[in-house]
Amino acid sequence: MVKLTFLSHAAFLLETDGTRILMDPFLNGNPLATLNPEEAKCDYILLTHGHNDHVGDTVAIAKKNNATVISNYEIASWCDGQGLNTHSMHIGGAHYFPFGRIKLTIAHHGSGYESNGQMIYMGNPAGALITVEGKTIYHAGDTGLFYDMKLIGEMNSIDVALLPIGDNFTMGIDDAVKAVEFLKPKLTIPIHYKTFDVIDVDPEEFVRKVEASRMKAQVLAVGEELTV
Ligand code: NI
Ligand code: MN
Repeated sequence: MVKLTFLSHAAFLLETDGTRILMDPFLNGNPLATLNPEEAKCDYILLTHGHNDHVGDTVAIAKKNNATVISNYEIASWCDGQGLNTHSMHIGGAHYFPFGRIKLTIAHHGSGYESNGQMIYMGNPAGALITVEGKTIYHAGDTGLFYDMKLIGEMNSIDVALLPIGDNFTMGIDDAVKAVEFLKPKLTIPIHYKTFDVIDVDPEEFVRKVEASRMKAQVLAVGEELTV
């Protein structure tokens, strides 16, 4: 059984057969997060890109849990420098882990990490196709709409798509509805909204518009679990 827990923003915990994969764990400094990073338990941390609202509490959580960070080569190298266990990959590449398969996809966005007034290069942003127990979950990361989502939808049978809808930094609602049409997932969960004033959009408007195109979307409350 695959369980997805929404931790707010772009953060999720995915649980499969006793393996816990934390994605984009931005908890400290996130006004919507309810999970205390000290209490986060995981075996892997998957990072879509290097922005601070995605790397979040990765270093502290990975150290505490002896977890392995999975990300692009540049982020993985930076994490190596922080003394973490890592598995580096890059866009278009897939790898079979003991728990299942991860493939990194393109995302149109940035990836720099700000630390002490410096912008650290963290490679190109990505999305991820995660296949566990025969179910495929697509975490789009932060991205604008791109036509290759149609190809991702053609080549993968996506059970759950996690798509940003907050506008300003990523797709807004109407572009995300078009993304759903391209990807054809069985279910879409909106992410990356409300955390900051500038991305304060109504996820129910997204759900209504997805349903109007005869697809399915569902808003998850922070802390809510979904069985895939
Ligand atoms: Ni970002
Ligand atoms: Mn972001």
